[in-house]
Amino acid sequence: MDYPKIDTLVCTSCGACREDCVAQAISPDPYTIREDLCIRCGHCYAVCPVSAVSWPVSEINSYQTTENPVGPGEQNPGRDTGVHFGGEPRRDEVPGQAARFLENLVYTRRSTRQYQNRRIAPEVMERLVSLASYAPSGTNARVAGITIIDGTAEVQELTRCCMQFFAGAARIVLNPVTRWVLMLLLGRKTTRQLEGYRRSMDRYFRGGRDILTHHAPALVCIHAPARLPVSRDDCLILGHSMVLHGESLGLGSCYNGFLVRALAIHPGLRRRLQLPRGHRVFSVFTLGYPAVRYRRGVPRSKLVTRIIPGHPETPA
Ligand SMILES: Cc1cc2nc3c(=O)[nH]c(=O)nc-3n(C[C@H](O)[C@H](O)[C@H](O)COP(=O)(O)O)c2cc1C
Ligand code: SF4
Ligand code: SF4
Repeated sequence: MDYPKIDTLVCTSCGACREDCVAQAISPDPYTIREDLCIRCGHCYAVCPVSAVSWPVSEINSYQTTENPVGPGEQNPGRDTGVHFGGEPRRDEVPGQAARFLENLVYTRRSTRQYQNRRIAPEVMERLVSLASYAPSGTNARVAGITIIDGTAEVQELTRCCMQFFAGAARIVLNPVTRWVLMLLLGRKTTRQLEGYRRSMDRYFRGGRDILTHHAPALVCIHAPARLPVSRDDCLILGHSMVLHGESLGLGSCYNGFLVRALAIHPGLRRRLQLPRGHRVFSVFTLGYPAVRYRRGVPRSKLVTRIIPGHPETPA
C-alpha cells in the first residue's frame, strides 16, 4: 500500500497538516508521516499551502485525470452555485452546470474537524432541515427525525459525557494484559490507533483538543424507529443529503461513528437527546463553518466495479 510523503526540502514546517491529521500520524522536526498510523485520508495533501505532500500515484482515477476541475495544485473554486432557494425549482435547469457543480462538491468535500467559533444562522439551519424532507424514504414512510444540538457549549456537554464513557471502557480494554489479546484480534495497526484515541481522550480531560466533536457549533443526529426495516437506510440517505446540502452552503461536516455506537449502548446519552419513544440514532455528524482550507481534491482509486454489458442493440 502506498502512503503520502512529505518533501522536507519544500516543507516550511507550518504545522497545518499535523493539525488536521485525524490519525496523529505526522511527527514534526522534520515533518514526516508515520505509515503505521496513517489512514490515507489525504487531508495533509489537501491542506498543505506549499504542495510539499505528494500523493501516491496509484490513487489516480479517471474522474480526476480527465474531467476534474480542481486537479492537484489548483484552488477550490467557490462553492455557491448562485442558484437560490425559493420559487418553483426547475428540474431541466442547466443540467450540465448542475452535474459539474455536484461532481466538484463530492470530489473536494473533506470531513471537517476544525470549526470557526461561529453559530449557524437560524435561516441556514431552516433551509437545511426544509430540504431534508425531500430525501427518498423506503415505502415513503418518512419516519426519520432530525435532532440538532445547536451551540458549542451544548455539544460539549454531550461530548464530555460520551468521552467519560469511552475513557472508562478504554481503561478496561487497553490494559497491558488485554492489549496482547487485542493485537491478536484486531491487529497491530488498529490496536495502536485505539491507544492513540485513548491518549487523546486523556489529553481532552486535561484541557486538550476535542477529538470527538471537534468543538463544532452543531451536532446533527438522525434517528428513526429502531424496529422498522428501512430505518437505517432512510437515516443514512437523509444524513448525506444534509451533509452535501450543507457543503453547498459553506458548512463543513464530519460523521461520527463513535457517537452512533455510544448512543446505542448508553441510555444516559440517549436521554439527553430526548428522542421520540422507540427511536434509535443511525447517523450523527458535526456541522459548522470550517476553520481549515483545503486547497486541492484528494484523488481516490476506483472502487472494484463491474458493469454487466447490456445487449449491443439497446439504444444508448
Ligand atoms: C460511517 C462513518 C463514520 C465516521 N466516523 C468518524 C468518527 O467517529 N470520527 C471522525 O473523525 N471521522 C469519522 N468519519 C470520517 C472518516 O474518517 C472520513 O470520511 C475518511 O477518513 C475520509 O476522509 P474525507 O471524508 O475527508 O474524505 C466517519 C465516516 C463515516 C462514513
Ligand atoms: S493521509 Fe491522513 S492520516 Fe495519513 S498522514 Fe495525511 S492526514 Fe494523516
Ligand atoms: S502543511 Fe505542508 S508545509 Fe506545512 S508542515 Fe505540513 S508538509 Fe510542511
